[in-house]
Amino acid sequence: MKKITVIGTGYVGLVSGSGLADFGNNVTCVDVNGKRIKSLSSGHIPFFEPGLTEIVERNTAAGRLYFSTDVIGSISEADVIFIAVWTPMDSDGSADLSAIKDVSKTIGENIKSYTLIATKSTVPIGTGEIINSIISEHAPQRTIFDVVSNPEFLREGSAVRDFLLPNRVIIGTDSDQAIEIMREIYRPLFLNETPFIFSDIPTAETIKYASNAFLAVKVSYINELANLCDATGADIHVVARAMGLDGRISPKFLHPGPGFGGSCFPKDTRALIHSAEAEGVELKVVKAAADANEVQIDVIIKKLEQLTGNSLNDERVAVLGLAFKANTDDIRESRAVVMVDYLLSREAEVAVFDPAAMSNMKQLYPDLDYAESIESAVRGASAVLVMTDWNEFRGMDLAHIGELMDKKVIVDAKNLLSREQLAENGFAFEGVGRPYNG
Ligand code: NAD
Ligand code: UGA
Repeated sequence: MKKITVIGTGYVGLVSGSGLADFGNNVTCVDVNGKRIKSLSSGHIPFFEPGLTEIVERNTAAGRLYFSTDVIGSISEADVIFIAVWTPMDSDGSADLSAIKDVSKTIGENIKSYTLIATKSTVPIGTGEIINSIISEHAPQRTIFDVVSNPEFLREGSAVRDFLLPNRVIIGTDSDQAIEIMREIYRPLFLNETPFIFSDIPTAETIKYASNAFLAVKVSYINELANLCDATGADIHVVARAMGLDGRISPKFLHPGPGFGGSCFPKDTRALIHSAEAEGVELKVVKAAADANEVQIDVIIKKLEQLTGNSLNDERVAVLGLAFKANTDDIRESRAVVMVDYLLSREAEVAVFDPAAMSNMKQLYPDLDYAESIESAVRGASAVLVMTDWNEFRGMDLAHIGELMDKKVIVDAKNLLSREQLAENGFAFEGVGRPYNG
């Protein structure tokens, strides 16, 4: 059995590490964040991700999954190292590769015998080559190693299922030995005929960005069409459903809203545009999608201003949903956070509620009114904004919500609520691309 070390215990590292352990491998997850490793070692998962506690517990109990801060020791003992550290957006839009470079140097300095190094982090095309040369520079002479690009496609909120049942596995490498090892590690998936794509490293790196950027384009496309529906009176949900029935289009990622958020689409579209520019290639479509996304929140703001007569100063506004999407506590690049910033700039009294993301938000904005329920958030509010597609918002008792509010105004930025029920209960309301013709 191969000994695997996963470096970085964020969403990708922790899910991949426990998933690889579930496939029968012996896995040690390491991180420079000592607090995170300490809590993981005592059985506490540092973020909200459905099913993650169970898979971590199962594999820890089976003696296949370990946590450690000993990055150097874990590198020198490993047959295979997965790099799953962050690659955040730099100030110029490019991917900041400093963690990748630090880790590559540490790997080079500490591998003892043949080691396979697989990159799970999302990295610009050409990064495999950078990792290769940093390791070569620091590795003892004649230590053999291979670098593989093995991008990850999991989604937060369904990350465990996505890892265990992926729709494809990408293995980018020029080494036959590396292919054999990757097959062995992913054996259960190989046996159940999950499609495997073998390619060179730059192709694998491109597949990851190409996939994320395509989905981002789809979201921006439907958002712009929703804005058109707002202007014309057409219903974007019917349009999207009808479009999706064409198998060439597919119904997925055609849900309009306040724009895409999260730690990936915003940064990955910008990083792809930046890398292409460096090669003298202009990605006009991706650029348009990223630009459209930045202004989509203004559409929601304008709706709020219209419904409230633009009087927000000292008014209580309730924001329902802080996470960048449902089933996660992640608020990175969340459109709800952009909305909170706007409301604060307008000196509104901001009340917030989210089923999972309140403690992350509190760390950044300690002074908001953190409500314990939907009802306490909306009590006395002059307007409610629904910003995240949590299921529990869909089932809100609108009659009761209306009684609690000061003025019955709702902007439903995710189109979760029934327009008929909103109208029946006397609300002034707006969705996205669904004008109400009563
Ligand atoms: P994250 O911010 O949740 O976690 C990153 C972890 O790396 C942190 O725990 C941090 O302490 C650790 N780290 C940073 N530098 C380190 C170093 N030098 N040595 C050891 N540990 C270090 O990040 P994430 O969301 O898991 O994303 C990781 C990568 O995977 C990114 O490139 C991201 O684009 C990509 N990705 C993310 C997702 C997702 O849904 N979040 C999905 C696919 C790919
Ligand atoms: C996304 C991809 O879906 C994953 O395949 C990929 O691995 C990951 O990025 C990554 O590289 O990190 P994730 O960011 O977890 O996953 O979330 P998505 O479900 O893709 O949603 C991204 C954003 O788009 C959210 O803000 C969501 O609300 C928005 N969205 C999505 C829409 O507005 N409409 C849609 O129809 C779909």
